[in-house]
Amino acid sequence: MTTQMPHVTSPVRTNDELGLEQTLRPKTLDEYVGQTHVKKNLSILIEAARKRHEPIEHLLFYGPPGLGKTTLAAIVAKSIGTNLRTTSGPALERAGDVSAILSNLKDGDVLFIDEIHRMNHAVEEILYPAMEDFVIDIMLGKGPSARSVRLALPRFTLIGATTRIGLLSSPLRDRFGATYHLGFYSEDEIVTILARSARILSIPLEPEGGERIAQSARKTPRVANRLLKRVRDFAQVNGHERITKAVAEKTLAMLAVDTLGLDETDRALLKVMIEQFQGGPVGVKALSAALAEEEDTIADVYEPFLMQIGFLTRTPRGRMVTKEACAHVNLPLPRSLIQSPLM
Ligand SMILES: Nc1ncnc2c1ncn2[C@@H]1O[C@H](COP(=O)(O)OP(=O)(O)OP(=O)(O)O)[C@@H](O)[C@H]1O
Ligand SMILES: [Mg+2]
Repeated sequence: MTTQMPHVTSPVRTNDELGLEQTLRPKTLDEYVGQTHVKKNLSILIEAARKRHEPIEHLLFYGPPGLGKTTLAAIVAKSIGTNLRTTSGPALERAGDVSAILSNLKDGDVLFIDEIHRMNHAVEEILYPAMEDFVIDIMLGKGPSARSVRLALPRFTLIGATTRIGLLSSPLRDRFGATYHLGFYSEDEIVTILARSARILSIPLEPEGGERIAQSARKTPRVANRLLKRVRDFAQVNGHERITKAVAEKTLAMLAVDTLGLDETDRALLKVMIEQFQGGPVGVKALSAALAEEEDTIADVYEPFLMQIGFLTRTPRGRMVTKEACAHVNLPLPRSLIQSPLM
């Protein structure tokens, strides 16, 4: 996902961060911190494929933005020593787009489709036989003389990534051999990621400075790396040679990011829910209108983390705030929530 987001704690990549991400991206499973369960499974798949000299089965990675889906796809391709071809759901507009990519693959290549939930139906239909039997059906000619020709494809591996697994059709989901969920990182894992990034960028980061940044990094590697960069800039401008806890603290205060990693937008969202919607339940449409933020941004960017830290719950009738959220933004618990069974 890419977009121009002004929020320093957004897990979505901004367009000017591509270079930084490529520098910091782990290149092997050993360098990839955390997600132990996923790594263990993948290393078995990779080893088995290597031994059998066969491509690995199609893989689907899902989870919130910035947790390492694209990174993992690149690691898998590198580990089996093949090319990675990258595209995305929105880039594949017509059936012909995906047919062209598929027929240009070589044996054993990995095709990575980012934002795979945003593919249209015509494109998806081409993928079904391609994934299952390594063939595509191409229509030749038009009108009554049109006929369909079946083309054999090389044996490739499709890796899909999505932040919204619920939007994937079940026939598509069923065609992946394995599906992995990437979850939020522990604070210790974020500390390890920060130490590694500081080493690569030659930033003198003290352990307590790293711990303070990790606290506010929303358990998300992308946010951690971005905050590290901002703290480094602040240190340089203010003549600090090392990143201590105090330097990290000052930068985060200046950015209005609190110890939980919430910024003004998160706090505004919670306040709107509490003050305008009596704590909920409120639908994402109403929230989007009240905050002038896109629905997808609320659902992809803000909600997963707020739910992870127990500030929001999702009910069939909409989102609700919790009493912990009210305490965090110093607002009284709305009266309608006091009797709620969720409280
Ligand atoms: N496990 C990890 N260990 C170290 N660094 C990581 C890890 N996961 C992610 N990163 C860092 O975070 C950055 C963002 O990761 P990545 O682009 O893979 O996320 P993503 O899940 O694909 O996000 P999106 O949903 O926005 O596409 C990477 O450039 C990398 O530097
Ligand atoms: Mg990605």
